[in-house]
Amino acid sequence: MPPLIAAGPASGVDLFADPVLEDPYPVYEALRTTGRVVWLDQHQAWFAGRHEEVSAVLTRPKTFSCEHGVALTSAGSRQPPESTVPPRGGQRHLSMRSPLSRHLNSGAVKALTAETRSQAELMAHQYTAREEFDAVEFVTRFVAGRVVRLMDLPETAGPELVASALAVVDMSAPDHTRYHSETLATAMTAVLSRVVSRKTARRGSWLDRLYKAADTGYLSECDVVPLMAAYVTSGVDTTICGITAALHHLARSPMYFRRVRAERLDPAAVFHEAIRLDAPVQVLERRVTRDALIGDTRLRAGQRVWASPGSSGRDPRRWGSHAAVFRPERADGTQHLAFGLGPHSCAGRQLAQMYAVSLLQALARFGTRLEIAGDPVRTRSSAFRGWKALPLRITPDRRRFRARASTV
Ligand code: HEM
Repeated sequence: MPPLIAAGPASGVDLFADPVLEDPYPVYEALRTTGRVVWLDQHQAWFAGRHEEVSAVLTRPKTFSCEHGVALTSAGSRQPPESTVPPRGGQRHLSMRSPLSRHLNSGAVKALTAETRSQAELMAHQYTAREEFDAVEFVTRFVAGRVVRLMDLPETAGPELVASALAVVDMSAPDHTRYHSETLATAMTAVLSRVVSRKTARRGSWLDRLYKAADTGYLSECDVVPLMAAYVTSGVDTTICGITAALHHLARSPMYFRRVRAERLDPAAVFHEAIRLDAPVQVLERRVTRDALIGDTRLRAGQRVWASPGSSGRDPRRWGSHAAVFRPERADGTQHLAFGLGPHSCAGRQLAQMYAVSLLQALARFGTRLEIAGDPVRTRSSAFRGWKALPLRITPDRRRFRARASTV
């Protein structure tokens, strides 16, 4: 398709160049200053980076639609979307989202909390005993373990699913950058089809409930595996990036770690503040379905809009002059857009928060001090903002170690 002519403020920046991926925030700031929306020549898409405009795009699905999928690339869009992510619109989106949501609402998450906390304590105890560890390895092991447990998958499937989930999401990045992994990405459904069956479904588990939904006709049996894939794709790397972001900010702020430890600061606030500042998903794509005005710029039907939670989280118009500062005690700290907004907003928000709280609380229980132990390395993913390696040092609380040893 020939490029659509755009009239409005424009920029030649490449959002996926290595230096921008390393630190996108100065670029976002320049784009926010340039206009409410800015045409990106390199990507042939509008960029919405202010909180108000990102919210407007995400909450007007009839005008800014994601029914065609959310990939930022033709390679991602080639992939049958239902093999990896929930359908994005219409009745089918609702019927697929609904069984997902039922497993992720506050009651369902509450029922999982005790077991998750005990797993978090076990792992925090092990890793604190080492005194130095890689937060990425720690969090990945925890999240992958939770996912295979919730889905009744064999533990050995965890690493393969995590790798495949990252590849699926990387396919949504622009073609010219780091997308090399179509085979790995399509492995997701292959892995699941191999290990998931009615026979493996434990009574009351997510898998069991999905098969029951198929029995009642609510869902087609052939939707079970795609739905499982959707859980994994949507929920694994996002959560890993979110929790490691929280650990990174906490390790740089000893005062806040002490407060969490003393139960004077809710770990949920730490998590939200971290993903406000470093949204795991930096950009969400929508397609303009009919001409629309944002400010005095006219967006034409057929054009693409990239709404950026990564940018909106640091918009001083919304967050004030300390927008770029980690302040978990902010009163309105959960009002960020890192989980999206509107009909496609994150279905797993409460589960992700519960995972984060469990892990942060457990570390603060066994450690008296958390620090960065070496140079962290950023992931060069065009789809996620996360860490490839995040070395941490934790000082064990010997008294609590002894106390736990005497109870197990
Ligand atoms: C820190 C962790 C997480 C972050 C930052 C995050 C972020 C997001 C965002 C930004 C969206 C909206 C996408 C859009 O509007 O195009 C989304 C959707 C979604 N998320 Fe999450 N997510 C996280 C964890 C999870 C978890 C743990 C699960 C489930 C196990 C999950 C399941 C989903 C699903 C199913 C959708 C699609 C909703 C729909 O289209 O109706 N997410 N997530």
